[in-house]
Amino acid sequence: MKMMERRNFKTLLLSAVAIYCISVQALGAGSSYPLMRMDPNLDDKASLQRGMQTFMNYCFGCHSLQYQRYNRTARDLGIPEELMLKHVIIDPDVRIGSLMENNISVDHAKQWFGAVPPDLTLVARLRGGRDINNRPDWLYTFLLTFYEDEARPLGVNNLVFENVGMPHPLVNLQGVQQRVCKDVPQLAANGGEIRDPLTNEYVTENLCGEDLIGRGISPLQHVEGTGELTPDEYEQVIYDLTNFLYYVAEPIRADRERIGVYVLIFLAILYVFTWLLAREYHKEYH
Ligand code: HEC
Repeated sequence: MKMMERRNFKTLLLSAVAIYCISVQALGAGSSYPLMRMDPNLDDKASLQRGMQTFMNYCFGCHSLQYQRYNRTARDLGIPEELMLKHVIIDPDVRIGSLMENNISVDHAKQWFGAVPPDLTLVARLRGGRDINNRPDWLYTFLLTFYEDEARPLGVNNLVFENVGMPHPLVNLQGVQQRVCKDVPQLAANGGEIRDPLTNEYVTENLCGEDLIGRGISPLQHVEGTGELTPDEYEQVIYDLTNFLYYVAEPIRADRERIGVYVLIFLAILYVFTWLLAREYHKEYH
C-alpha cells in the first residue's frame, strides 16, 4: 500500500514537472526581443477581410486553420457565401461548411523545411503569452522582422524566432531587410560612454541586430529598391493579417465583449433593486 502511494506520488510529481516544462517552453519560446505593440480591431471588417485574403494567398499553402470553418469566417467578416465559394474556396470539392484545411503532406514538409508548418488557428493565443488579453504583439513583430541571413538554409532568419524554418513568404511585398551592424561607443558600468584617457576618443565596440536596440538604433534596415510596397504599406498588410489571425484564434471574442457590457449594465441595475430590498429587510429587525 505504502509502495503504491509513493509510486503514485512520484508519477504525479513527474507529470507536474513535465507540464510545467511544456508550458514554459510554449509560452516563453522566442527571444527577449522587445515586441512591437499591435492593437487589434475586430470591428474593422475591411481589415479582417484584407487579412484573410493575404492569409489565403500567402500562408494557406503551408498553414491550415483546421479549427475554423469557411462559413463561420464568411458570416463574421460580412462576406456573402457565394463570394467566399467563388473567390476564396475555389475548389469545387470543398463545401462552405468545411474546415479550413489544406493538403500539405507532413512528410514533404519535413523534407522541405525541416519542420512541419503548424496549424495557425490558435497561434495568436499561443504566442499571446500570459497576458489576459492575449496580445498579438509577438505575431505582429515576427511578421515584420525577417532578415537576410546567408547562413540559413532558406536564406532568411527572424529576430523573434531565431533560426525559424520558414521562408519569408511576403518578401516580394516587403523587400529585403538586413541586420544592421555598427560601431558604437562602449558603455561603462554606470551607463556612461567610455573614452580613451589619452586621445579622448570614444572606445567603440561592434554591435549587431537586437543588441543595438538599447542604443536607439534600429536593428534592421530595408534595402532600397526592393519590395513592391513602402514600409508603411507593408505594415498595414501585416496589421490586417495579424488582426485576422487574432480573430480566428477566438471568433467569439467580439460577441463575448459586447454581451459582457450588457451583463455589467444588468448587474448595475440589479444592484439598485437588491440594495432597496435589503433596506426593506433591515427595517424588519430594527
Ligand atoms: C513554404 C511554407 C510556408 C509558408 C508559405 C508560410 N509558412 Fe509559416 N511556417 C512554415 C514552417 C515550416 C514553420 C515552422 C518553422 C519552425 O518551427 O522552425 C512555420 C512557422 C510559422 C509560425 C510560427 C508558429 C509557432 O508558433 O511556432 C508562424 C506564426 C507562421 N509560420 C506564420 C505564417 C504566415 C502568417 C504566413 C503567411 C504570410 C506563413 N507562415 C507562410 C512554413 C510556411
